[in-house]
Amino acid sequence: MEMIFATTNAGKTLEVKKMLGNVSLLTMKEAGINIDIEENGKTFEENALIKARTVSKLSGKIAIADDSGLEIDYLNKEPGVHSARFMGHDTPYSIKNAKILEMLKGVPEEKRTARFVSAVAVVFPSGREFVERGTIEGSIGTEIKGKNGFGYDPIFYVSELKKYSAELSLEEKNKISHRGKAVAKIKKKIEEIEK
Ligand code: IMP
Repeated sequence: MEMIFATTNAGKTLEVKKMLGNVSLLTMKEAGINIDIEENGKTFEENALIKARTVSKLSGKIAIADDSGLEIDYLNKEPGVHSARFMGHDTPYSIKNAKILEMLKGVPEEKRTARFVSAVAVVFPSGREFVERGTIEGSIGTEIKGKNGFGYDPIFYVSELKKYSAELSLEEKNKISHRGKAVAKIKKKIEEIEK
């Protein structure tokens, strides 16, 4: 099976390629699609569907998309769907992460709860579509730690493993991550229709 992954995010691409080992996953670039898709939905699910529908229409192929973000309870679940745009799309994550630590300075541990959310959508050329959500609970740490992953991984503390998300290997992260859980649900849906 061939699918186009509707993203330009290298971190996501690495993870999802590993998760969908038996699918030939093309990036938008590899499929010759060079567009900026406006993510104007209010929810992760809406945005994932917008991206997958757009790329499936343009290519005539099956498209998969992830829309994800970090919900910080102390910040009323922000940056949420605005995670990529927080402080500007091109601002380095070293700066974004430092800003979040500053915004939570002095906030006690029990109020630092947060989660990563991922909605993964698959859209078929026939118009058939699925969308599934995965989450991982954790908290905002007190320092920037770890070299793996991408985005907010260096400030996200994964309570169940007692490690920052950026300290996890790709395999460790994929097993428990928001995206890993959403992709696993999507895989099941696809297997059901292939039967
Ligand atoms: P999207 O491309 O609009 O879905 O933006 C998702 C944004 O959420 C990313 O650019 C990151 O800032 C953040 N994000 C989503 N998933 C992760 C993750 O697994 N680790 C770290 N940051 C993430």
